[in-house]
Amino acid sequence: MDIRFERTPLAQAEAGALILLAFEDAAPVTGAACDAALAQLYSSGEFKGKPLDLVLLHSPAGLAAQRLILAGCGKLDDCKPATVRKAAGAALRLAKGKTKSVAIALTGAQQTPDLIAAATSGAILAEFEPEHHKTNGDKADKRIDSCLIAVPAATPGLETAFHHARVIAESQNFTRELVNEPGNLLPPLELAARAQAMAAEVGLDCEILDRDRMAQLGMGSLLGVAQGSAFPPALIILRYKPETAAPTDHFAIVGKGVTFDTGGVSIKPADGMEKMKYDMAGGAAAIGAMRAIAQFKPRVPVTALIPAVENHVGGRAQRPGDIVKSLNGKTIEVLNTDAEGRLILIDAITYAQRHLGVTHMIDAATLTGSIVVALGHVHVGAFSNNDEWYERVRAASQSAAESLWRMPLDDDYKKQLESPFADLQNIGTRWGGSITAAYFLKEFADPTPWVHLDIAGTAWLDDGKPWMAKGPTGICVRTFVELAMSWR
Ligand code: BES
Ligand code: MN
Ligand code: ZN
Repeated sequence: MDIRFERTPLAQAEAGALILLAFEDAAPVTGAACDAALAQLYSSGEFKGKPLDLVLLHSPAGLAAQRLILAGCGKLDDCKPATVRKAAGAALRLAKGKTKSVAIALTGAQQTPDLIAAATSGAILAEFEPEHHKTNGDKADKRIDSCLIAVPAATPGLETAFHHARVIAESQNFTRELVNEPGNLLPPLELAARAQAMAAEVGLDCEILDRDRMAQLGMGSLLGVAQGSAFPPALIILRYKPETAAPTDHFAIVGKGVTFDTGGVSIKPADGMEKMKYDMAGGAAAIGAMRAIAQFKPRVPVTALIPAVENHVGGRAQRPGDIVKSLNGKTIEVLNTDAEGRLILIDAITYAQRHLGVTHMIDAATLTGSIVVALGHVHVGAFSNNDEWYERVRAASQSAAESLWRMPLDDDYKKQLESPFADLQNIGTRWGGSITAAYFLKEFADPTPWVHLDIAGTAWLDDGKPWMAKGPTGICVRTFVELAMSWR
């Protein structure tokens, strides 16, 4: 979709559908003849302007557009950017299949950087469809080719807000495209190739550690998971370095990149296993965030590390009871081969600390089914070993409108991870499963300030929303970008 920002009076915006934000307080005023009809729409009570209310009118009198869509945003007073993002997205999705061009007009008090950004990202995120592999015609028919974000007056800062929102939302869609790819088409080396191609485009440094290099370094924990797959593993490293200054901080984003999770020998039930292609959503979010970070150039050096493996069964696969040695030196008894995410993350975390000297870490991982039990599909589960750093992450997630819920991480959970045969075992009991998983990571992340985000419940939408297609959400991309920019 080609998206542009222009100063165009709304009556003159040429589009198959013109989208206007509509509030509960009063009918929108366009200054054209259709205003009478809009007033009647409100006075009849048929349209109230509540959040996500939508109405579509044909041939609105006095407007250049062929259709007019009112996108309900609730009360003007408590209108949040997230509401506008969803309303604009839902309106664009309503236009799909009807026309190929839309315009979203913001007028009067709506012309703020925040709302321009919200409308822009709403449109871009709503345009995404996870149907890349469909070869039939509906795919082409549903696509919106062009979107105009129109404002009547010149206001400084609006264009910047548009550009910023566009880069982030397009990066989020880049992540969603990766997450949606099935395990056969996106094995670890293909994920690495996609990261490498993106890096070349935006000017990032990209290094891929292969199996031999990881063996040489001593990443026994990661390699134990990888050994059951015919696809070789990769540790993908993307680096952004600011041009100016010699900052003392170094920020690392670590993302779980399991390109498919069968569970290994502790195999998962067949029902729903196909969804485990999204087990690299954390890694894909890290890659997508770097795409935006490269363009925004924050003051802090940022390195993304994506341990990429497939967790599979086979004659060479890891067994329950196997003992592996991590890069950190600690030995781990692998009681359950399906608790593989933590096993690959810790070697990436140790590498970031020892070989790159990072000072602040965040990781995102579709780590546990338990976090879905605890928080459903609403909040990202957040864990940290450092209150100050956690507060910065929380603030960034708030500006990004991605909701975190902090979970406990006390030492009382440690006991569950004691093994009779090794330094640690890779699972605890059924109870508090997302916490013991996080505690396992903490054993390696300490003492570096670190936040772990368990996105198992938030990286995939089982049912589409009016503003967003079913499938990958691209969660964490916005938070990662905001966080990197918080150093500015
Ligand atoms: N990738 C899964 C976690 C997951 C489950 C993500 C459901 C999305 C939806 C992870 O590797 C896993 O299998 N975790 C196990 C851990 C258990 C064996 C301790 C789980 O949560 O069941
Ligand atoms: Mn698993
Ligand atoms: Zn997994």
